[in-house]
Amino acid sequence: MTTTFDRSAVPDYARLGSLEGRAFLVAGAGAGIGRQTAHALASAGARVLCVDLVPELAAAVAEEVGGVPHVADMTERAGVQGALDAAVEAFGSLAGIVDIIGIARFQYLADTGDEDWAWAQKMNLTHAFLLAQLGAATLARYGGGSIVYIASVSGMGAAQRHAAYGAAKAGMISLVKSAAVEYGGQGVRVNAVAPGVIWTPRIGAAVGEERRAAWSEPTPLGRLGEPRDIAAAALFLASDLSGYVTGQTLLVDGGLQCRFPYPVEQL
Ligand SMILES: NC(=O)c1ccc[n+]([C@@H]2O[C@H](COP(=O)([O-])OP(=O)(O)OC[C@H]3O[C@@H](n4cnc5c(N)ncnc54)[C@H](O)[C@@H]3O)[C@@H](O)[C@H]2O)c1
Repeated sequence: MTTTFDRSAVPDYARLGSLEGRAFLVAGAGAGIGRQTAHALASAGARVLCVDLVPELAAAVAEEVGGVPHVADMTERAGVQGALDAAVEAFGSLAGIVDIIGIARFQYLADTGDEDWAWAQKMNLTHAFLLAQLGAATLARYGGGSIVYIASVSGMGAAQRHAAYGAAKAGMISLVKSAAVEYGGQGVRVNAVAPGVIWTPRIGAAVGEERRAAWSEPTPLGRLGEPRDIAAAALFLASDLSGYVTGQTLLVDGGLQCRFPYPVEQL
């Protein structure tokens, strides 16, 4: 038997996580997961264009992370193109995009009207399409980069009153694959993070602190997710640590989906 000694080059793995000198656009940077993601990218050295519909939120987060605020409606083509142009004007290039925007109106299928359905696609999928098309073209112009979306466990499985939101998030997961295939040759990677239940300020206010323990119980890790858990996964997908990962949706749910849904503990 012969053995060969492996002399292949060993990269500086710690440096692969660095975004030093790279410009990023965060869409929906103003609160929750978006704010934490802006912090995560900036802490790794990125310069961040903090885009939000609400001027005060864009300004506040940009100040926190030493970034540049930008106000736009990212569900509109002109808003997306304007934000991409603003990033290039501010930083001279663009290396990545994280799109956090998304929201649900929880409704039974029977109660979902045509306007509700159209609204769910607009708020959860249209901006993703526009950023895939216009954003990938911009990234390709500067040598490639990474696009990261925030999908949802609702796009992978079903729950009551999630039909319109879940269908839009499932569409996003499919879009990630198509964009990865079409833009990979131009050096653009496209991935998503699918959060489970994340205790954002908005969800916390809706559910109520008194129900937090009950909501945590089914999760194998014994707690609900925090916005920082999703920001950390987005940082991984934004950096060269994930340089050979594209077309994927990374489920970040504390192990919830792994759990067998029947009470077998009672056997
Ligand atoms: N919180 C959870 O449990 C959970 C679970 C699964 C998936 N998600 C997904 O995570 C993402 C972030 O959730 P969150 O609770 O942190 O959101 P959030 O509502 O707290 O923050 C979203 C930000 O986007 C901004 N925004 C909204 N519409 C915009 C537009 N058209 N143009 C520009 N900016 C706009 C808002 O002003 C806000 O600052 C969403 O896509 C959501 O679907 C959340």
